[in-house]
Formats: sequence, C-alpha cells, structure tokens
Amino acid sequence: MERKKVTIAELQAKKDAGQKITMMTAYDYPSAQLVDQAGIDTILVGDSLGMVVLGYDSTVPVTMDEMIHHCKAVRRGTEHAFIIGDMPFLSYQVSLEKAVENAGRFIKEAGCDSVKLEGGSDMAPVVEAVVRAGIPVCAHIGLTPQTATMLSGFKVQGKDAESARAMVQSAKDLEVAGAFMVVMECIPDLLAARITREIRIPTIGIGAGLECDGQVLVYHDLVGLFERFTPKFVKQYTNLAPTIRDALIQYREEVEQGTFPGPEHSFAMKAEEAEKLVDS
Ligand code: KIV
Repeated sequence: MERKKVTIAELQAKKDAGQKITMMTAYDYPSAQLVDQAGIDTILVGDSLGMVVLGYDSTVPVTMDEMIHHCKAVRRGTEHAFIIGDMPFLSYQVSLEKAVENAGRFIKEAGCDSVKLEGGSDMAPVVEAVVRAGIPVCAHIGLTPQTATMLSGFKVQGKDAESARAMVQSAKDLEVAGAFMVVMECIPDLLAARITREIRIPTIGIGAGLECDGQVLVYHDLVGLFERFTPKFVKQYTNLAPTIRDALIQYREEVEQGTFPGPEHSFAMKAEEAEKLVDS
C-alpha cells in the first residue's frame, strides 16, 4: 500500500483505535531519510541536537537559526513522516508575539508541520496564541530539559501526589489550549497512564512507561552514536560508534601504509595516452 504524508487526524485516529504512535528524533538529511524509510509516524527535530550533534552541555544554548538550519535538512530527507520542530529556550517565553513569530519560522522557512514547546499550565496561553495563528503545537511536560535547573536537575518528575495532580492538570490545560499531542518525559508509569486516559489527544512517552499512546527516543541514543551518557529510559538497539571508529582507524592505517587507494578505486589511462604523457 502506498504511504501518504502522516496527518494530525491520523495520529488522533491511532489513539482512538488503540494503535501505538511512533516518534523518533532526526537532525539532518540522512537520519531523516532512514527514520522516514523505517515507517515512523513522526519526526521530532529536537533541541537535543544541541547535545548530540553540536556538542553543547545542555539544550539551553541552542538558537532559532540552528534549529531552522537542521529542520530544513530534515524536511529535505522526509517524504511521509509528520515533522515537529522543537522551539529552543527563550524563543517562546518572552512574549506571545515573539512565540508566534518564531513558531512561524519553523513552518514558513523550515517546512515543519508543527512545533513543540516545553512547559505545563503556565505555557497554555502560549500554546493558545500559536495555535490561533494556525500552527499546530505539541506540548512537552514532566522533565523539561530547557528548565532542568529550575527542577533541580535531570530527575523523574511527578513522584508525589501533589506534583502528579499538577501534571494531570497541566496536560488538561494544554489540551484545552489547543495542543494536538503531549510529550511526557521522565514521569512514573502510573501517572503517564492516568494522563493518557484523561486527555483525548495522544500522549508520547520518553521514560514514561508503556501506557502512553506512543513513544519517542533520541536517534543518537538508539543507534549508539552518543557516548557521553545514556539515560535509564534509553534502549540502545545498535551500537554504531565502535563500528564507525574501527572503519576510520582502518582507513587511516591504509592511507599511512600506502594500501589505499587500490587499483579498484583508481582511474586508468589508455596505454597509448600514458605513453604520450611520458614522452611529453
Ligand atoms: O529535544 C528532544 O529530543 C526532546 C525529546 C527528548 C522529547 O525533546
């Protein structure tokens, strides 16, 4: 069956039918192509690119221009998946006008299908303003890496009844504000299951257990290309870094030893032309 471009209606229909939604991050043309070819529903161009691609210590320094640059490459590599561009820190918190303007860049300049922004009930007015401008918004609650310092570090959120109740309320407020989907990061399974039951829009978990409507992981974690640390919730499906490093070492050794390029990688000249060259 021919695959078509994934739509918000299809993502909602999946939740309604009890089918799981798949999401994966991608940051460039080749990773987007592979994710798309794997049949994954949605690509998140996450600001995690700050850490796994640009080498920053956190997602905080990531700029709008960096996000737009990577989103454009992902757009070029994607045919079917629904693309979500991640709004970087301080691109949506300063004012509603600035939030709409920056969200608009993801759609107009980069060709994304929607944007994602972090935060609970406090961010509902921002979600509302961006949605009113005609831009679909995916919310992100629980552990919100851009403001991890405010949360006293990268910790599981919503572990006590009071903060869990507040998170259920956040999810409801964000739904009312018009979000079409909610990412839930690093929260107890039980809480994620409760939110998934209590809101109509799909929930996507990362470190939030099996009961979410879908799952997301960071591409570089899944394929073993980020070696600095691996969060507990990551499943590494393959480990590419050692394979790539071994190939690079072999290349260096062959160049140093004069065994690459061999005849199969070189271009020959006709014998008579070679003779003329020697004679000249
Ligand atoms: O930036 C990102 O990749 C994310 C996911 C971890 C949800 O926000």
